[in-house]
Amino acid sequence: MTPARSLQMSRTAVPPSLRLLAALLLALLLALAGRPAAAQAPALDVPYVPTPQPVVDKMLELAAVKPGEVLYDLGCGDGRVVITAARKHGATGVGIDLNPERIAEANANAKAAGVTERVKFMVGNLFEADVSKADVVTLYLLPDVNRKLRPQLWKQLKVGARVVSHDFDMGPEWPPERTERLDYKTIYYWTIKPEHKQAAR
Ligand SMILES: C[S@@+](CC[C@H](N)C(=O)[O-])C[C@H]1O[C@@H](n2cnc3c(N)ncnc32)[C@H](O)[C@@H]1O
Repeated sequence: MTPARSLQMSRTAVPPSLRLLAALLLALLLALAGRPAAAQAPALDVPYVPTPQPVVDKMLELAAVKPGEVLYDLGCGDGRVVITAARKHGATGVGIDLNPERIAEANANAKAAGVTERVKFMVGNLFEADVSKADVVTLYLLPDVNRKLRPQLWKQLKVGARVVSHDFDMGPEWPPERTERLDYKTIYYWTIKPEHKQAAR
């Protein structure tokens, strides 16, 4: 048999529908293989930079976290703020972070600290969080993220709830009631007032 005849026979042996299916599968595999790893990582509004432990301690002291109170850390990273609130202040805490790797670390750290009964870590977007049960909200985000979050805090938090932020304020719309310095770090403190609830309606 000539090579041309052999090629013709092998082509006609495979039905066109199967050839089309094979081509589609190949294109799909190539597309998946060529996809950059970064495309699968969550698009963070703030990069991960942990708060130094002395600053965590100062934030919780400024917020005067008491036993049994509920603290939320939005963008909780490795869970250090929530875990410290549970371990040193007897609070219960919730940490929310968009990055599943951070949540896995936070859960491992809670286990090591023996506070798993009093803390909960969840993968989620802080802009979709419900913080209405919080007595205290802690933040280490960025100025524009804080400002975008401000209406959500006014709307959801109860009167008397406290908000503490590491390094960044809330802009001119919500000046802090107190400001504390620790070395080169600044901690800002606010409380929710009836007028904030009214303005959020
Ligand atoms: C500067 S770190 C602060 C970590 C921790 N709160 C602390 O003080 O150590 C900011 C965290 O926010 C998380 N993050 C960024 N964008 C987010 C979003 N839209 N929703 C939830 N978490 C987010 C990041 O993954 C990161 O862990």
